[in-house]
Amino acid sequence: MVKAIVTKKKQGRNILFAVSEAVPFLATGGMGQVAGALTAALHEAQPDYDIRMVLPLYGAFRERNEPNMTFLGETTVTLAWRQEYCGVFEMVQDGITYYFVDNRRYFDREKAYGHFDDGERFAYFSKAVFAVMEFTEFVPDVIHAHDWQTALVPIYLKAKFTEQHPALRTVFTIHNLEYQGKFAPDILTDVFDLPASDAGLVEYDNCINLMKGAIVTADKITTVSPSYAEEIQHGGGFGLEPIIRENAYKLSGIINGIDTKTYNPETDTLLAKNYTAKSLAGKAVNKKKLQEVFGLPQESDKMLLCLVSRLVSHKGIDLITYIMDDLLQLDVQFLLLGTGETQYELFFEEQAIAHPRQVGVNIAYHPELAGLIYAGADVMLMPSRSEPCGLTQMIACRYGAIPIVRKTGGLGDTITDCRTGDGNGFVFEEYDAMLLLDTIREALDLYQNHPADWENLMGQAMQSDFGWDVSARAYVALYEGL
Ligand code: GLC
Repeated sequence: MVKAIVTKKKQGRNILFAVSEAVPFLATGGMGQVAGALTAALHEAQPDYDIRMVLPLYGAFRERNEPNMTFLGETTVTLAWRQEYCGVFEMVQDGITYYFVDNRRYFDREKAYGHFDDGERFAYFSKAVFAVMEFTEFVPDVIHAHDWQTALVPIYLKAKFTEQHPALRTVFTIHNLEYQGKFAPDILTDVFDLPASDAGLVEYDNCINLMKGAIVTADKITTVSPSYAEEIQHGGGFGLEPIIRENAYKLSGIINGIDTKTYNPETDTLLAKNYTAKSLAGKAVNKKKLQEVFGLPQESDKMLLCLVSRLVSHKGIDLITYIMDDLLQLDVQFLLLGTGETQYELFFEEQAIAHPRQVGVNIAYHPELAGLIYAGADVMLMPSRSEPCGLTQMIACRYGAIPIVRKTGGLGDTITDCRTGDGNGFVFEEYDAMLLLDTIREALDLYQNHPADWENLMGQAMQSDFGWDVSARAYVALYEGL
């Protein structure tokens, strides 16, 4: 067994990210994007920090990256009556050390989530975070956990490891409060390895609720926009409002950024042609290519409305399906990329069959194609019912695709309505299908009848500042304050 060599502690803090996904290894959604980009931004903002990350070693990733990882050895994780194997792999990339937790039974599966034993899998993983710390002898000042999958990290610290790690502090980030990690109360001890005397930490509404447990036990809680931090206290907390309010003293909303180096129309290799805010000609080439890929007529002057989204109700998909007939009366094309609930997938597939010259649909999760869509789209729709932060609207701006968003969470914090002065998109307030349709009509009017103003708007959008600098500094201030 090779033991990890303990690197000398740097001057600054030791921060350990515990997260179930992160780019560039695996991202099924925004959390993975943000975990990867945030650690990179922290490393840049605070080079004296030693930033490490623990991730599950998923099967597909193992196959692709085996040669790039070093096997450090194995240890054992105890989860109630289970003694589970825990292999520890290491990879150092761009100044950050990654540890991958190897257990094929739990992680060698096609999908990262959605299994009957997800509770057990992530309880194991959260326990493994402590095992990895012990094994590698990397003792962080702060563990930063994310969403329900690692919510047990601050819970376990409070319930089991305070004697071992009296100085360790925890930050818990809520990326989306809709997914709380709820389980039947009777598996508290058997699966989550918590004694009945600790039930109060995690129980809520007759369930085990892991998010609730993390909110109660973490030293600091953050969420991904200032507006969402307010909303989840008042009506937008999916039942957890009272708990959030009680713990509001340790809550802050820090807006996500996007990785502006990756998302750059000037250099992005996914595009058919690169372009800049000053020279937009290349954007038309991307639009043409996109129309071709989706089998739509290559009409350059037709407004192209795009939706890149998980097809779930909180993304506001109901509003779009509701206005679809009216939308198709307008002189526009519509295309969609995404997967999700079957009812929506079927609806859009039927639309594409019925209106092949106007509607293009690809039911898939396909980041490369998404890149081309941002570059080719005229408008990006994001009428979410709730949106903790949202990344699509920021990426869209960067590529000169004008976002039409509903004012909720991070959408309202990042997009300003161009109808009320200088703006980078269109914003409507109420969750109302007709309001969405009216907003699309107004955008279409600007696009068709005031091309110079539209181009101006594209310039504004492309110049919006969505870098990570300010937010990375906010996280540093938070860590320093612990
Ligand atoms: C979740 C949220 C999204 C947010 C992302 C990253 O996916 O739904 O709004 O942008 O996490 O924090």
